[in-house]
Amino acid sequence: MADAVVQTLNPDKATITDMTMADMKTRTPSGLAHPAGSAGAAGASINARGLTKVFGSGDTAFHALGPIDLDIKPGEFVSIIGPSGCGKSTTMLLVTGLEPPSAGSVEIDGKPLTAPISEIGIVFQDHLLLDFRTAINNVMLQQEIRGLDKATLRGRADALFERLGLSGAENRYPWQLSGGMRQRVSIARALVHDPSMLLMDEPFGALDAITRTQIRHDLEMLWLETRKTVLFITHSIEEAVGLSDRVLVMSKSPGTIVEEIVIDLPRPRPAHLGEYPEFSKYAERIYRIFEKLGVYKF
Ligand SMILES: Nc1ncnc2c1ncn2[C@@H]1O[C@H](COP(=O)(O)OP(=O)(O)O)[C@@H](O)[C@H]1O
Ligand SMILES: [Mg+2]
Repeated sequence: MADAVVQTLNPDKATITDMTMADMKTRTPSGLAHPAGSAGAAGASINARGLTKVFGSGDTAFHALGPIDLDIKPGEFVSIIGPSGCGKSTTMLLVTGLEPPSAGSVEIDGKPLTAPISEIGIVFQDHLLLDFRTAINNVMLQQEIRGLDKATLRGRADALFERLGLSGAENRYPWQLSGGMRQRVSIARALVHDPSMLLMDEPFGALDAITRTQIRHDLEMLWLETRKTVLFITHSIEEAVGLSDRVLVMSKSPGTIVEEIVIDLPRPRPAHLGEYPEFSKYAERIYRIFEKLGVYKF
């Protein structure tokens, strides 16, 4: 092994539960893979140099991030882990082009990012589903907004619903779904237009530990099949090590990347990551960095 270079549910409303482990294990790939030469979008590369964000100006200027460099390869799964307020969400906004950097630059697939990009799927901690739309119609919103072919998008939505254990939930409203299922619908919505990058900002932060472990596995399986480039923001060491090819560890505010840890563990990774002795070494390494940075005071 290479050394590390290192919702609660509303009781008044009808709900359906998350899929069980056994249910998920029986699921088979279904029409989402894109071998070379087929129509699906391959993962994009993300490169950033000297990325810095200062909010406000003059006396109220606040240095929120950087400078940071990023080099994420096409199809790579990279996590950023760091303490609250260090600039993780800001990094994500800069990479989408939704927020301009104060200094530095971003290139997506070698092209300078100068405006918000559309070839992207984003999942936030809050599912941000529209209450008045069913699960499938929340996902199909992408087709309506982007003016894409309805039949193609519906086919992809159906395949994603099946892969994410959502079959049967198409016509339920967000309030009829558990927290885990709402996040699954958000993931389907982020992927239905076949973007080249998936950006996830603490997507499982509001879920209970059991649901998080299951959805981590399901996301990993979906990523293995589609190989989108994923930038995953979390403050969970288990999630970062459990999902990533590489973990970038950020300092306290203003966040800079203080360490890069290559996670050399076989995939798919198990529910209980402790099965791998290497897991605790990676986890310990991150704890130590946080201790050194004064994130933890024990
Ligand atoms: N639009 C904004 N204006 C001013 N300050 C902001 C803005 N957005 C974020 N910040 C500040 O920048 C810092 C980093 O925020 P954020 O990227 O959301 O941190 P994280 O996601 O790591 O918790 C925080 O101190 C936050 O209050
Ligand atoms: Mg954040």
